[in-house]
Amino acid sequence: MSTVLEVKNVTLRFGGLVSLDNVSMSVTRGAISAVIGPNGAGKTSLFNCLTGAYRPQEGQVLFTASDDRQSQLVGKTPHKITALGVARTFQNIRLFPALTALENVQIGVESRQRSGALAAMLRLPSNRRDDRDSVAESVRLLDFVGLRHRVHEISASLPYGDQRRLEIARALGTKPSLLLLDEPAAGTNPAEKRELEGLIRRVADTGVSVLLIEHDMRLVMSVASAVTVLNFGKVIASGPPEAVQRDPAVVEAYLGAAQDEGTGT
Ligand SMILES: Nc1ncnc2c1ncn2[C@@H]1O[C@H](COP(=O)(O)OP(=O)(O)OP(=O)(O)O)[C@@H](O)[C@H]1O
Ligand SMILES: [Mg+2]
Repeated sequence: MSTVLEVKNVTLRFGGLVSLDNVSMSVTRGAISAVIGPNGAGKTSLFNCLTGAYRPQEGQVLFTASDDRQSQLVGKTPHKITALGVARTFQNIRLFPALTALENVQIGVESRQRSGALAAMLRLPSNRRDDRDSVAESVRLLDFVGLRHRVHEISASLPYGDQRRLEIARALGTKPSLLLLDEPAAGTNPAEKRELEGLIRRVADTGVSVLLIEHDMRLVMSVASAVTVLNFGKVIASGPPEAVQRDPAVVEAYLGAAQDEGTGT
């Protein structure tokens, strides 16, 4: 089994606070993997280090693209990392609220087109074929995530679960080989969660590796073949979901977090 992403000894600090403490993990190509852990464990910080939003003080993030070329992601800009084939969604949905579903996905698709943003804005003739292609590709992706009927709706007016799926369509528009999903099921209802589970599997079936941060344990246990557990910025367990779920350190981390919430600390 080949590896699409290798995180080696990544440490991220904010002043005196250590958000990620010597984190190492790897993601198998083509698989669905998960990162779990209590609130504040460092999960989103890890994604931010993988996508160039944060630069860790120490460590390496090695990404192997579908053409087998390996790149060091630490120090690269988010734009460059997207172009290499890593896409993400955000814990707090980041769509352009006033644009339609189609336009939101087109932004993802057009980010990798030759003629570029300036040509797109000026509507240059060289750009018209790209335009047609990007509309067709965006409609295909909306269909893929189950939003064919929402193409021309303003994204802010969509139900929450649809906005989450729209974010996935936009991310897929950049043609990633690795898709990072930050709590895609947060705030969705049980029916939406089941649809999302099907969608994540379909994404993986197309050959895209998926790394997902998720609090819903049932969802994690059912879709993920490997789980990494973070607690206070450290990896405390990793492996197949069944083994991780039984790991005493994991049980204790979650019990501790539940007790803290119970006592309001
Ligand atoms: N830009 C930042 N500046 C200062 N501290 C930060 C910053 N980003 C993250 N942190 C801190 O890093 C720690 C980990 O936060 P992070 O958001 O990665 O946790 P998380 O595991 O995603 O939590 P949640 O489940 O609540 O989303 C927290 O203590 C947080 O306050
Ligand atoms: Mg988070």
